[in-house]
Amino acid sequence: MQESIHRGLVGVVADVTEISFIDGEKGELSYRGYDISELTEASYEEVVYLLWNGELPTARQLIDFREEIAPLGALPFEIVDRLRCARPTTEPMHLLRTAVSNLACHDPNPDDVDIENVRRIGHRLLVQFPTIVATMERLRHGKLPVDPDPELSIAGNFLYTLTGEYPTEAATHVMDVALVLHAEHGSNASTFTARTAASSLTDAYSAVTAGVGSLKGPLHGGANEAVMRALEEIGDVENVEPYIMDRLEQPHGRVMGFGHRVYRVLDPRAAILAKVAEKLAKESGESHFWEMSVEMVRVMDREMEKRGREVKPNVDFYSASVYRMLGFPIDMYTPIFAVARISGWMAHLFEQYADNRLVRPLLAYEGPKGKKFAPIASR
Ligand SMILES: CC(C)(COP(=O)(O)OP(=O)(O)OC[C@H]1O[C@@H](n2cnc3c(N)ncnc32)[C@H](O)[C@@H]1OP(=O)(O)O)[C@@H](O)C(=O)NCCC(=O)NCCS
Repeated sequence: MQESIHRGLVGVVADVTEISFIDGEKGELSYRGYDISELTEASYEEVVYLLWNGELPTARQLIDFREEIAPLGALPFEIVDRLRCARPTTEPMHLLRTAVSNLACHDPNPDDVDIENVRRIGHRLLVQFPTIVATMERLRHGKLPVDPDPELSIAGNFLYTLTGEYPTEAATHVMDVALVLHAEHGSNASTFTARTAASSLTDAYSAVTAGVGSLKGPLHGGANEAVMRALEEIGDVENVEPYIMDRLEQPHGRVMGFGHRVYRVLDPRAAILAKVAEKLAKESGESHFWEMSVEMVRVMDREMEKRGREVKPNVDFYSASVYRMLGFPIDMYTPIFAVARISGWMAHLFEQYADNRLVRPLLAYEGPKGKKFAPIASR
């Protein structure tokens, strides 16, 4: 029988979900029915509550949720010790993936996949992710870790534990927007990876660890770092055009931060972050990266139109500039993506464990058949 093959699972609908909806033709994204552009008015905690419970919280529910998660952000000292012992040159995503896996060893009940236990783990990981990322950054610069302040929001705490200084309201708001926009995106590679791992009924830590590993790749969450490295390499607006033309001349050449599996028009998250990046650039007077970004979009639009391709800037293209202006080091960009995406991963794990079916696609075999085994001595 000739199977129909969907390389990269393009167009395959693997299951149903109630968490988010993407219309790639119209450039729309909604979480639980709410358009993403409206959700940037909400705090990240409100959006997490929405993703996890199906509806936005009331004021009382939000207070309860914040009180529940506030004390959970501190890390077991063994985890901090392991982060401290890592070679200072270790890629932060390796540290994050290892730390998450390690957290299972400090949880008295890591393996139970009933919904209450997985939700308990979700609450912890939601606030431990930002602490891990901030702690690894401080340690590699020889600074002492800063404990989260239970009075601060997740966005505020992330900035506080990273810098040791209380953040401004404006910076906290930008961080909130970035977290909200990166929280969830359907069956993207890392979420599908996490769901696939969970479908064997392995524990939530293993599933999240797998998700972190997938996010790290340059075709997925790693793209934001690649974008900033490209902007640094380009260096000046006048170098944008030759850089892009050189890339596009290479077979299957890619310009990072452009293109998307699902969107055929502008990624709605990119549209929102572009405005944030432009505002930050104007306010800070550091418009260099913004001007190069505008030129990159102009040249890519022209070249993709010539080639009949619908390739637009994606969320990573603009998050790179936003993170730059917030002062984050480049290799922290993908870990910061993970700080946001843990909420989406957990929402999907709740869904997967609640109604599980083992994910087990087929591969069409194209190798040799019918070969005769020969003992080693006669080979
Ligand atoms: C995201 C991505 C992996 C989507 O991949 P996909 O759905 O498999 O789309 P394809 O890779 O098949 O792209 C189809 C065509 O569009 C063009 N294209 C897509 N993305 C491009 C990019 N970033 N730069 C230049 N051309 C691109 C190419 O002509 C490509 O054909 P080719 O493979 O023969 O060169 C891809 O667009 C990409 O590699 N982008 C850069 C990495 C990135 O920014 N990732 C973050 C995503 S949020």
